[in-house]
Amino acid sequence: MLRCQFMRKRALAAILCGTIPALGWGPEGHSLIARIAEAQLTPAVHAKVVEILGPNVTMASVASWPDEIRRSRPETGEWHYIDIPIDKPHLDMARDCPKGDCVIKKIEDFEVVLHDPNTPAVQRREALLFLIHFVGDMHQPLHDSDNKDKGGNDVRVIYNGRNTNLHSLWDSGLLGHMGKEDELFPGYSAESERHAKKWAKGSVEDWAVQAHKSAVKVTYGKLPKTDKGAAVAITAEYEAKADPLIRLQIEKAGARLARVLNEALR
Ligand code: ADE
Ligand code: ZN
Ligand code: ZN
Repeated sequence: MLRCQFMRKRALAAILCGTIPALGWGPEGHSLIARIAEAQLTPAVHAKVVEILGPNVTMASVASWPDEIRRSRPETGEWHYIDIPIDKPHLDMARDCPKGDCVIKKIEDFEVVLHDPNTPAVQRREALLFLIHFVGDMHQPLHDSDNKDKGGNDVRVIYNGRNTNLHSLWDSGLLGHMGKEDELFPGYSAESERHAKKWAKGSVEDWAVQAHKSAVKVTYGKLPKTDKGAAVAITAEYEAKADPLIRLQIEKAGARLARVLNEALR
């Protein structure tokens, strides 16, 4: 039997289990964000996280769990993103999250569940895992933006000679070329800590609007123009704009995830 949700290799899972569109950051991005956040938890909150996760389970090791269970729990599929149209400057929860099953509402819901001392242990653990993942996901600009293209999933692009799509490029393609996780972590973590006080301000909705504006300006705005229907060839100029934004979003996500957990488990 194929145990798709346990497959660590995304590419293999995609071939054997059918392609799963619109995952969040790839495992590397989620792991980086979790490591950055874990380093910014207060000692008391860190101790609670260790207690909830169990011995020898790091936040990074569970950060992609919601992607692994998506197929077996299809109701969670929409929880990973919010489609704010790129021709709209603001988030409108009634328009963009009418059923309450988008990433913003789920983060707010799971904050309450994690904070509630009466939450049973199994639900508390799930709430923690979903928060670790979703605060990461919502910092991928295409998880807050839509151009009637499923957050870029329908936009074909060619990157380093390979066919992919705009969404996947931003989830993992670009980051995969920015360096190995262990090389990126020290600089990203230090930068995140340096700006944490400023970046962790605001609401989850403010953070979504920021990510959405970045998508309008950079992710879609700087995309080379092509004939309608043709695949977009990603240029070095585009990468030079995209890579620093990806880095910034990961650094912000780490600081904000730490704030969310420091508050929910205080
Ligand atoms: N599916 C539809 N819209 C999406 C988005 N913005 N991000 C990820 N998956 C999606
Ligand atoms: Zn994604
Ligand atoms: Zn996700």
